[in-house]
Amino acid sequence: MDSVFEQTISIVKQAGEIIADRISDTYTIIPKGHSDFVTPVDYEVQEFIVTRLERLIPGSLFLAEEDCHDQYEPSLPLWILDPIDGTTNFLHEYPCVTISLALAQHGRVLFGIVYNPITKELFHAQQGKGSYLNNERIVVSPNKTLKQCIIGFGLPYDRRKSAFIFKKAQQVFLQCQDLKRKGPASLDIVYVSCGRLDGYFELDLQPWDFAAGILILEEAGGRISDWTGLSLPINRRTNVIASNRHIHELLINAIDIQHINKVAGLSAHRIRASYRQS
Ligand code: IPD
Ligand code: CA
Ligand code: CA
Repeated sequence: MDSVFEQTISIVKQAGEIIADRISDTYTIIPKGHSDFVTPVDYEVQEFIVTRLERLIPGSLFLAEEDCHDQYEPSLPLWILDPIDGTTNFLHEYPCVTISLALAQHGRVLFGIVYNPITKELFHAQQGKGSYLNNERIVVSPNKTLKQCIIGFGLPYDRRKSAFIFKKAQQVFLQCQDLKRKGPASLDIVYVSCGRLDGYFELDLQPWDFAAGILILEEAGGRISDWTGLSLPINRRTNVIASNRHIHELLINAIDIQHINKVAGLSAHRIRASYRQS
């Protein structure tokens, strides 16, 4: 597996050169939804990586963002790929853009790579071998109270959910040291892994946004779950909370209106009313 892993890193770095070379170009953008775009570079990078990984593990399956979704079969090796995580950042030359790639089997991530080709920062982890940033071991922050923490969060493409997520963000902001919306999702998760962020939350993420991050964060000592604390599925969309582990429950509670209202001693009627407003 080590040689497959090393060859995969080399493929990702080569693909990263395409992104770095083309970030200053002007594109015909193809809209997928409100402020959700895809460019020819997303397709080009995906094609570059997929053709090489097919040769690396013949018979492996793909779950790649740009229309490449094989039927899920847990017993077979599955590549989970976002060729450009942060397309909006890419379009604005905002230097937070990644290739996010995981190899999974039997529902577990075997290795994960998140590479920012603009800053040349490569985060990686293999099961049981720790997490690394440019080959230096990384670990999560030691902070144990929200007051000590910088928390990242994401905003949904679906603008109908904006009031809900801003309400959650406000709840967290009132308890933490600072709040950041930077994106992309994969980079926010690995920033938690190396202690640049202490926690992060977002609605409606896809496996290609978080699969590599699951292993990189867990191997760095952190925890990642859905908003109720359950393990993340690697084959479907879900809401994500990532943390340095110490503040995980605090963060879950901070975004949970019901819990906060219970602590404040509000009645069930007031709790339902505050849900309706969110
Ligand atoms: C998006 C980015 C963004 C996050 C969205 C993702 P894309 O991925 O990660 O930061 O907020 O939820 O969908 O569309 O740039 O691959
Ligand atoms: Ca993405
Ligand atoms: Ca993408």
